[in-house]
Amino acid sequence: MRVVENAEELGRIGADLVTEVVGARPAASIVAATGRTPMGLYAELAARRRSGVLDTTAISTVQLDEYLGLERDDRRSLFGWMRRSFLEPLGVSDGRVIRLPLGGDLEEACAAFDRGLEARGPFDLAILGLGRNGHLGFNEPPSHPESSTRMVELSPSTIEANARYWGNGADVPTTAVTLGMRHLLSARAIVLLVSGTSKRTIVHRALEGPVGPGVPASFLQDAANDVTVIVDRAAWADR
Ligand code: GLP
Repeated sequence: MRVVENAEELGRIGADLVTEVVGARPAASIVAATGRTPMGLYAELAARRRSGVLDTTAISTVQLDEYLGLERDDRRSLFGWMRRSFLEPLGVSDGRVIRLPLGGDLEEACAAFDRGLEARGPFDLAILGLGRNGHLGFNEPPSHPESSTRMVELSPSTIEANARYWGNGADVPTTAVTLGMRHLLSARAIVLLVSGTSKRTIVHRALEGPVGPGVPASFLQDAANDVTVIVDRAAWADR
């Protein structure tokens, strides 16, 4: 775990790690969370790309989660947020984006999606944030480590937290689709970014508390692969 001074350093250290992964594997598959926490990291990656330090021409990007029931081009689309913050600044074209299923027979579509993921092999990198209730993506508590891509009901805590993005709680959809825990936990490298005082309680529970479905991020304690947690001082202050 790395404790950094502030959100800016969090972005820089996170970007170092992503740059290292992409340097070693130029065609890396990268899960890119939305939410406020990784925005500094993405801006830093875009700056490095512009200055020629980072070559993103061959990466592919995987969508982590999305609300259900939105019209195309709805301002609240998490894909739209990912496009503005990650795909466009890094020049990732549509053909190199793996998008979650959102319609039709969703259960079957998610199962087919997961079969596709399994055929491709593990993600090279998952860039994740931490929900106030310990979720990763929209793997709300309780979520098991073997859980697959699926439709979820958002918890009141998540709806309240997401209201910061869109206005108020009534603006937050109540259902979503998320990549399952098993695909996240099997990523070759995982970077969990945690910033701000609102994450103080949960980050300690996730990293030091008992491992279990009540705090899905706690499964990172047991993940066999390369997990880096970067926490800023506001989140990791003495309790
Ligand atoms: C949201 C998203 C997650 C995100 C997390 C933290 O609900 N579904 O993908 O990582 O909560 O968000 P933030 O970084 O804004 O605190």
